Amino acid sequence: MRILSGIQPSGSPHIGNYFGMMEPSIRLQDEGEAFYFIADYHALTSTHDAAALRQNVRELAVDFLACGLDPEKAVFWRQSDVPEVTELTWILSCVTPMGLLERCVSYKDKIAQGVSPSHGLFAYPVLQAADILIFDSNVVPVGKDQKQHLEVTRDIAQKFNDRYGEGLLVVPEPRIREETATVPGLDGQKMSKSYGNSIDIFEETEKKLRKKIMGIVTDSTPVEAPKDPEGSYLLQLYSLFASAGEVEAMKASYRAGGTGYGHYKQQLFETMWAYFAPMRERREALLADPAYVDGVLDSGAAKARAQAREVLDRVRTAVGF
Ligand code: ADP
Ligand code: TRP
Repeated sequence: MRILSGIQPSGSPHIGNYFGMMEPSIRLQDEGEAFYFIADYHALTSTHDAAALRQNVRELAVDFLACGLDPEKAVFWRQSDVPEVTELTWILSCVTPMGLLERCVSYKDKIAQGVSPSHGLFAYPVLQAADILIFDSNVVPVGKDQKQHLEVTRDIAQKFNDRYGEGLLVVPEPRIREETATVPGLDGQKMSKSYGNSIDIFEETEKKLRKKIMGIVTDSTPVEAPKDPEGSYLLQLYSLFASAGEVEAMKASYRAGGTGYGHYKQQLFETMWAYFAPMRERREALLADPAYVDGVLDSGAAKARAQAREVLDRVRTAVGF
């Protein structure tokens, strides 16, 4: 089984990125051939500052490795080090109906958020399809917001196979975990960098993390009154980090009343801080060793390129080059 996923270098990763994409990818690296990359071609749709892009790529590489991506098990590279993917993008563009892209909600969402409507932004799902198809990927772990892009990828693969020959491209399956499909942000909406409601995996200081967590929106039930565990974002966030027993205990305490939300926030803060402690330690070591990080990305790129070349050659022959 080949597992593949990508993540854009668009600033510090948050816990929605972690539970939606990074943690499932890390977990899957033991179950097959894992291929993970930093989607810097994609980031050009929104990051127009070269120094910032370079820095975001480096930081994301460090953060992903710190979280447990193991370069002994997974191939890990920078998307732009495998330019074969852009050639496949063009070939796939020519089997992609306009209507398929016009239906994509992420394009409309990004424009609504103020991203400039370039052709790259519109064609983004074709590049994503090429990312996936060029590695004969079977399984793609992502958060729920990527579901439509995976459907587009499957459609494009099928269109290509219909036109040029069955079985030429592998049709992939998304892997979306129900429990973490959409991690809520501080305000209960989907956690997202662009909504300003995110909690980073590696907040700079303990104090900053505590302050963020204290800012989670709760209702105005008084301290002594019982509270409804249903629909509580605070509890949803807590259950990402706590054991089933700890979650049950917090729910029971909600129902009993007599405890204020501030107390539960403190518990969430402590649990989250402890959860990421070993990763923070690894991150410090990685930050001190940039040559190691470069080495991982360079050797990953060499392996990824060799694989990509095979599929691209198969496709080039199929289309008549
Ligand atoms: P953002 O919305 O902050 O810009 P991205 O769109 O860059 O995040 O998402 C990167 C990866 O993280 C994708 O696989 C996406 O599905 C996942 N992801 C992002 N936000 C969440 C969330 N709130 N819950 C679950 N997964 C998420
Ligand atoms: N579009 C994805 C996101 O914004 C990133 C991505 C690019 C990706 N190429 C991919 C994810 C291929 C999975 C597979 O999060």
